Amino acid sequence: MSTKAMTIEGKAVLVTGANRGLGQALVEEALRRGATRVYAGTRRPLVHPDERVTPLTLDVTDPNQVQRAAEKVGSLDILINNAGVSLPDALSDRAALEQHLAVNLFGTWGVTEAFLPLLMRTGGAVVNVVSVAALAAVPVLPAYSISKAAVFSLSQSLRALLFSLSQSLRALFAGRGVNVHAVMAGPIDTDMVRGLDIPKTSPEAVARGIFDGVERGEEEIFPDPMSETMAESWRTGAVKALERQNAALVAARPVAA
Ligand SMILES: NC(=O)c1ccc[n+]([C@@H]2O[C@H](COP(=O)([O-])OP(=O)(O)OC[C@H]3O[C@@H](n4cnc5c(N)ncnc54)[C@H](OP(=O)(O)O)[C@@H]3O)[C@@H](O)[C@H]2O)c1
Repeated sequence: MSTKAMTIEGKAVLVTGANRGLGQALVEEALRRGATRVYAGTRRPLVHPDERVTPLTLDVTDPNQVQRAAEKVGSLDILINNAGVSLPDALSDRAALEQHLAVNLFGTWGVTEAFLPLLMRTGGAVVNVVSVAALAAVPVLPAYSISKAAVFSLSQSLRALLFSLSQSLRALFAGRGVNVHAVMAGPIDTDMVRGLDIPKTSPEAVARGIFDGVERGEEEIFPDPMSETMAESWRTGAVKALERQNAALVAARPVAA
């Protein structure tokens, strides 16, 4: 598999959960890097002073809103699935697990499915904001950790599928496959972990790390000092090697167009 480098300048970017926390910082960083259009997906109305920002009403768990948002966006280069929830729960709490999966997994997948046709047209990128909790569960946040492990697995499957598709339909794609990036972030200083007394990185610095990773074409992006300590061993490690082996199996099979 290969992931191409890509600049943010001149691109159309959509960020879900864009009204606060990391999402808000991603909107500002995309504008700073010269994005021509930034679609800001939010559950409540948003006003932004920059005319390049187009607000979109977008609860990622609402299929009608997702569909309407996709109809409003003419062209898209980068979809950032940032919207997420993390609520205190116990492993025995099935409702909490379903709630986390509804937003963090099915929300991410629903939005991705709706915007994939636009991204395939531009040869763009899907950026899933995952978490280091996908790699090692945070025991006090079991449902959150499960949902992030699931969205990481989704990112791997989507990456392999899109790569295989671009190989099968080379003439159509002409080297313009869709990148899939998984952001393996450590603790970020937002409302989500406000109550935790642990070292955190500012959302602005994490947003810069994410776009640096997209611009460099990194499949897994480790955007902060805590997660960065894992980057080197991850890229040369057994799990990444296994992902490539698995992807090669998919690539060897003919794909129905
Ligand atoms: N903070 C961390 O330590 C950390 C670490 C690793 C990864 N992450 C990930 O980073 C992403 C952003 O989190 P954050 O730290 O910025 O958290 P945050 O400050 O709590 O913001 C969460 C954002 O997601 C939105 N959201 C929640 N449910 C939604 C839904 N159903 N539809 C649309 N938007 C929804 C929220 O909108 P409302 O304002 O309407 O609620 C808000 O904009 C999440 O995916 C999170 O899992 C965070």
